[in-house]
Amino acid sequence: MTDPTPVFSEPPALAADAVSKRYGATAALAGASLFVRPGEVHGLVGANGAGKSTLIKILSGSEQQDSGRLRLGAWSGAALTPRTAQARGLETIYQDLSLAPSLDAVANVILGQEHSRLGMLRSRRQRHEALGIFARLGFRADPKEPVNRLSPADQQLVAIARAIYRRASVALMDEPTSSLGVAERARLLDIVRELSRDGVAVVYISHDLEEVLAVADRVTVLRDGRTVDTVAAGQLTPDDLVLRMVGGAFERLRRTSGTAGDVALELRGIGRHGRLTDVDLRLCRGEIVGLTGLVGSGRTQLANVLAGLHPTTTGEMTVDGTPYRPRTPGDALRAGVVVVPEDRKRDSLLMDLPCTHTVMLARPESRLGILRGRSERTATQRLLDRLHVKPASPAATPRAMSGGNQQKVSIAKALQARPRVVVLDEPGQGVDIGAKQQILHAIREIARNGCAVLMISSELQDLVPVVDRLLVMRRGRITGELAAAEIDEHRVLELAVTGAQSPAGRDEDPTHVQ
Ligand SMILES: Nc1ncnc2c1ncn2[C@@H]1O[C@H](COP(=O)(O)OP(=O)(O)OP(=O)(O)O)[C@@H](O)[C@H]1O
Ligand SMILES: [Mg+2]
Repeated sequence: MTDPTPVFSEPPALAADAVSKRYGATAALAGASLFVRPGEVHGLVGANGAGKSTLIKILSGSEQQDSGRLRLGAWSGAALTPRTAQARGLETIYQDLSLAPSLDAVANVILGQEHSRLGMLRSRRQRHEALGIFARLGFRADPKEPVNRLSPADQQLVAIARAIYRRASVALMDEPTSSLGVAERARLLDIVRELSRDGVAVVYISHDLEEVLAVADRVTVLRDGRTVDTVAAGQLTPDDLVLRMVGGAFERLRRTSGTAGDVALELRGIGRHGRLTDVDLRLCRGEIVGLTGLVGSGRTQLANVLAGLHPTTTGEMTVDGTPYRPRTPGDALRAGVVVVPEDRKRDSLLMDLPCTHTVMLARPESRLGILRGRSERTATQRLLDRLHVKPASPAATPRAMSGGNQQKVSIAKALQARPRVVVLDEPGQGVDIGAKQQILHAIREIARNGCAVLMISSELQDLVPVVDRLLVMRRGRITGELAAAEIDEHRVLELAVTGAQSPAGRDEDPTHVQ
């Protein structure tokens, strides 16, 4: 099944040959190779920490490898700079986006390409072209807003628009769908196919293996910093990929139905000026409830209300039967409500401190002095082991961890708080398939211990194995509820897009270009 890389027969759009890179004691890459043909969609997969992002950083010139050679079109050598990479038609859509945060979307797209000689006229034409690309991508946000005010999904689109504007011949996409909702994902895959039809080679990293197989022509698997295999996507199932990723057997999680106890959290008629309308919600002890919808449908708004970050304008909430009116995250914590936020870097992690500090933020161990330090490290170690965080050291900083491992630390912090109600906003984001199972196990365990869980996700395949029921939101309202057995993609999309389960009355099309 292996598709051997033709060494001499064709020039690659992009290639890496036996590339190695260390960070201190960690070998992030240990002889990784990649050969990308012009115009192909090339999937790059591997477990958390396998070295995918490191390889992308080296290929885009933003990090230097210790050894190994690179090729980009007609260029070949050992040291690629970001400037050379860009001049040779390479664009990167990073896991951590590289946009100018205070500039608006259009300015970001034409940044560095502004022509000064013909001034106004040229720049008007450039703006026009940028707006045309936004329309084609179905960008609905205000292109005059500074990009740091846009949602992660819209920021993602700005980065893609920039690649199209610059007529890239190679586009590197590191988990481009991780912040997108149900319909936005489908649209992004279409965009990737379109880029490839236009002759752009796309390197596509994702933990959603079905997605990779649906879009890629070939797939390269990395394991522990090495290339395991490059294979044609058409011949593979997700399980084939998993076997290569983990190099051993892998057990899929089966659904086990929990038994729901007393009501832990109740919302009646919750509203927040236009963003949330008349939300009723009831979570019982031991229950795991899923919440899905399109980006901007109000899921994160609801999480923020529960976290004490946003005030409500109407309605009432109770936790264990007592009124719940959190004004700050501290209030929420004292009531036993913990929210694992979607944007872990911004809202959850202390990036440059040992991860014990992050894990202990919500609930420090109660001992004093030296004993406290030691017991905090022990408690952190236990959680890191339980979630298989790598590196499994309380002294490691989130900054030095791969994206998926950062997410696990954020979840460890929530578990340490021993919550009565836990809300997880996109807990599977950026997490590999094995780690996902470990996180879902941990979520089930806390539910079994009597915690009520609300799990927000755009990925149905993550929700289906764990949730007891699924709520769907649209435009700030809960439009439907499905029992575990009733969940299917079509029904969910209908509720998310039209708010109704019948095909009649469709009033919004997620693929519509404004
Ligand atoms: N700046 C850094 N300092 C120290 N170690 C690092 C740094 N960046 C990455 N590493 C380590 O290099 C290894 C590879 O990380 P990388 O981010 O490339 O993984 P990845 O395949 O992208 O994982 P994920 O799927 O979780 O995003 C990991 O062990 C990580 O901890
Ligand atoms: Mg990564």
